Amino acid sequence: MKTRITELFGIQHPIIQGGMHYVGFAELAAAVSNAGGLGTITGLTQKTPADLANEISRCHDLTDKPFAVNLTFLPALASPDYPGYVKAIIDGGVRIVETAGRNPEPVMPALKDAGIKVIHKCTSVRHSLKAQAIGCDAVSVDGFECGGHPGEDDVPNFILLPRAADELEIPFVASGGMADGRSLVAALALGADGINMGTRFMATREAPIHDRVKQALVDASELDTRLVMRSLRNTERVLDGAATQRLLQKERELGDELKIDDIIDEVAGIYPSVMIDGEVDAGVWSCGMVIGLIDDIPSCRELIDRIMAQAGDILRQRSAAL
Ligand SMILES: Cc1cc2nc3c(=O)[nH]c(=O)nc-3n(C[C@H](O)[C@H](O)[C@H](O)COP(=O)(O)O)c2cc1C
Repeated sequence: MKTRITELFGIQHPIIQGGMHYVGFAELAAAVSNAGGLGTITGLTQKTPADLANEISRCHDLTDKPFAVNLTFLPALASPDYPGYVKAIIDGGVRIVETAGRNPEPVMPALKDAGIKVIHKCTSVRHSLKAQAIGCDAVSVDGFECGGHPGEDDVPNFILLPRAADELEIPFVASGGMADGRSLVAALALGADGINMGTRFMATREAPIHDRVKQALVDASELDTRLVMRSLRNTERVLDGAATQRLLQKERELGDELKIDDIIDEVAGIYPSVMIDGEVDAGVWSCGMVIGLIDDIPSCRELIDRIMAQAGDILRQRSAAL
């Protein structure tokens, strides 16, 4: 399937694995790229630019296909060495960067001068248009269903994607709630040129995370995510569980008085315990409503081949019935 996204990134299938903290290591990125999609290393999971350079080099050893690096711009209080990470990306010969979070404008000149393609992930039409205006090559439009940070507008993809299609000139992929060939065909119908998946790629054989996390995704239903940190305007969709309930109880008790320090035990630095040690109740962690559609743990190649085969079947059957 050729779309503006496959052409832009030089990939076989219009399927992207979005950056995921403590999930997007070289093993997963390479497995997705080797299967014909676009895999992504999560930049800030690497503690220093030197660590990122090493991870990029490991990924080059595992695949000769294009892969991306995610650069997430965190709320202002944390300030990683972004120029250092950008340098590691450029020196490492990475051709594609997924930006997310705050406006990526400060890093755009360096990335564009190096000929790197930039896809910015955002949750609204206005931020998508801003991304287009500052020179991004594509957008990942992340609906309210998504795992991670859905923003504060709460617009689901059935509205958000056609709105983006009406306004954008650059290509975009549909992100949030994407799982299978049905998602891909729907995304194309709504004007996207491909899909971006996070949660679905966690439940794959190559995702380098603990089996208990993968099993928790398989066991959960579409009713099992919660929104946290709403009052801090840093809303995150996470899997429900003991830590999530603890955090929600604090939110109920403190209301608008809630400060990040009140919930630091549930949110800060918990990803290694969850993803690597499999302590799924160590804290809150991002997870999309799409868990309702996840029943197995295939390889990335099986998953991507299945999506493309199902999408082809749907398109053929529907057009034969016209
Ligand atoms: C465990 C997890 C960690 C994530 N970490 C990041 C991150 O560090 N940076 C980022 O831009 N997006 C992050 N995301 C969001 C994904 O890249 C993607 O946009 C989102 O998962 C799409 O929704 P879906 O889960 O319904 O597919 C994360 C998602 C998950 C599930």
